[in-house]
Order: sequence, then structure tokens, then C-alpha cells
Amino acid sequence: MIFNKFSLKCHEYEKFWGYAKLIIFKILTQNKFILTSIPMSKNILIINGPNLNFLGRPEMSIYGKETLADLHSIIYQWITNAEWQARFFQNNSEGEIIDYIQNNFEWADGMVINPAAFSHTSIAIYDCIKSISLPSIEVHLSNIYHREEFRRISITGLACEKIIAGLGVQGYIEALEDLKKILK
Ligand code: DQA
Repeated sequence: MIFNKFSLKCHEYEKFWGYAKLIIFKILTQNKFILTSIPMSKNILIINGPNLNFLGRPEMSIYGKETLADLHSIIYQWITNAEWQARFFQNNSEGEIIDYIQNNFEWADGMVINPAAFSHTSIAIYDCIKSISLPSIEVHLSNIYHREEFRRISITGLACEKIIAGLGVQGYIEALEDLKKILK
């Protein structure tokens, strides 16, 4: 009789523990499922430097046919597909570019920047990129290494993870793909 009571208790305990294990397993696997299936949204700054507002003009044909608006809409399409957000900025002044980066980097997870001619001259933009420690990729529409000597060195590029040059508009998409790998 005593033995029977004891074995019944043991049996109940085992049943309870079996259910508990099942519930813990479900919670753990469900959480794992949630963590792996929700894509993490990212905020990206897209910065373009001087004269790139003139893209698409015949005099700028070395940079391709696309206007700045075309470039922005191609990037925007990629950003929308990835369910990311982007802020776009183009300016012809070094100080305005620095102010914009300083005012927006806290919102951002990464940056794609074409500092244009400032790439070859601006220690100030180099310092700015260095000071925010935001994963940044520098893009050049043209191949700066196959043009005039004075374009071959990018000062600002030294503060970035990588420089992509000579791929035209596709270079910006490559930069976003690189950021996707860096930020995952
Ligand atoms: C550029 C290359 C620079 O040397 C030049 O001054 C530009 C555009 C490019 O995208 O290829 O303005 O950054």
C-alpha cells in the first residue's frame, strides 16, 4: 500500500516535470524563431559632396547618365526592399557636410558617403568620420585610381571601412550590401 502511494507520487512528479520541460522547450524554440525571423531594420545616412547635384549633365558624363534624383531613387528602392530607413543629403560645402553628419550620426547605424572632391583634400571630413565611429563606406562613381594623379589618394576614405570606386551608381548598392554584412 505504502509502496503504491509512493509510486503514484513519483509518477505524478514525472508527469509534471515532463510538462514543464515541454513548456520550457516551446518558449526557448519560439524565442529563437522570433529572433531569427524578424529582420533588424537599420538607419543609413547617404551623403553626397560638392557638384554631385549636377550629375546627369552632359559635362558630367564621366559619372554616368543618372541624375542625383535617379541615384537617390535607386538607393531608396534598395532601402525599401531591405525594410531599412535612409536620410539623404547633398551639399557643396565642407562645413555643411560635417554639421549634417554630426547632427544625424546618433540616428544612424551606418553611412554611405561620396565626399566628391573633398575626398582628396579634407582632413576635416576625415576627422569627422573618425570621431563618430559609425561603419562607413566611401563610394566614387568614377575610378579615381585611373584618372588624374591628384584624385588617386582619398584622405576621407582612410576613415572608412572600404572605398568602392568605378562602379557608377551600382557602387552605392555594393556599399549597402557591405553594410548589411557588417551590421548583421
Ligand atoms: C567623385 C570623384 C572625385 O574625384 C570628384 O571630385 C567628384 C566625384 C566620383 O564619384 O567619382 O566630384 O567622387
